[in-house]
Amino acid sequence: MLDTLKNSEVYAYPAYYALGYRWNTEDECDFVEAGLKLMGPEVAKGSAARLLDIGCGAGRHAMLLAKRGWKVTGIDPSWPMVDFVQEQAKSKKLPVTASVGELSSLGVSGPFDAAICFMDTFRFLLSNESIHSHLMAVADTLAPGGLYITDFWVPRQWDTIGSEIHQWEQTQGDTTVRVFYVQHPDSVDPIAQTFEDELVFEVHEGGDIREIRGGRTRTRLILPQEFRALVAGTGRFAVVGTFGEFDLTKPFTAESLSWRMISVLKKVQ
Ligand SMILES: C[S@@+](CC[C@H](N)C(=O)[O-])C[C@H]1O[C@@H](n2cnc3c(N)ncnc32)[C@H](O)[C@@H]1O
Repeated sequence: MLDTLKNSEVYAYPAYYALGYRWNTEDECDFVEAGLKLMGPEVAKGSAARLLDIGCGAGRHAMLLAKRGWKVTGIDPSWPMVDFVQEQAKSKKLPVTASVGELSSLGVSGPFDAAICFMDTFRFLLSNESIHSHLMAVADTLAPGGLYITDFWVPRQWDTIGSEIHQWEQTQGDTTVRVFYVQHPDSVDPIAQTFEDELVFEVHEGGDIREIRGGRTRTRLILPQEFRALVAGTGRFAVVGTFGEFDLTKPFTAESLSWRMISVLKKVQ
């Protein structure tokens, strides 16, 4: 397991993670399917597509897309997450495999028609060099014309960099998982463009309340123009679209005031 994950208790509770993060999963999977149909490789448009899910977490996209006929490979550095995805795939008889892997060394060979890296996982790449080598590794696993779709937080206002807090909750049966995403302003490094953020789960279950703290993790601020420059620098991808929501009709603009930029890259070489 990566050093950054060793202290992160939230990754040891995949079932709570799966519940806390399940919102919007249908829309996100619809977006991937529509993107592939519109912009993906010709061969994948009418058949079961092959997907690589990077930082798959508890497998919410993997399971849903597999249910819709995709063949999915998930990688995640956290063993409990990988075990959970494997168990879910087995019990639901879905074509999903999962293994330990991470952004810098994917540890899988393709070809895949598409790869996804969702919910800010891309921001664990802290340097330009690591972003470059990650993009090169993803391109190596994709079929010609394959898509790489990723999303990451961008500040709506520059004076909120490093100090945003987001909160949401999801309920199933008698379990509610309240998720807090917290950025720590005291940790901002303006030269490295990094800061620490943290996930905290407040789990309400059967009358009990418990708090599971994710621990501080250093993540990177990536701005839209530098992302484009880094992608161009690989010579392997073209940015075919950036979106403010998981909706191909909603481009990423200043007016969208979105907190996440969703990018669709197409392998060109
Ligand atoms: C916010 S979750 C997103 C999970 C999933 N993509 C989703 O949308 O539900 C971040 C995931 O990234 C994984 N992760 C952390 N560091 C990583 C790394 N260096 N490479 C790949 N995944 C990483 C964590 O284990 C966790 O499952």
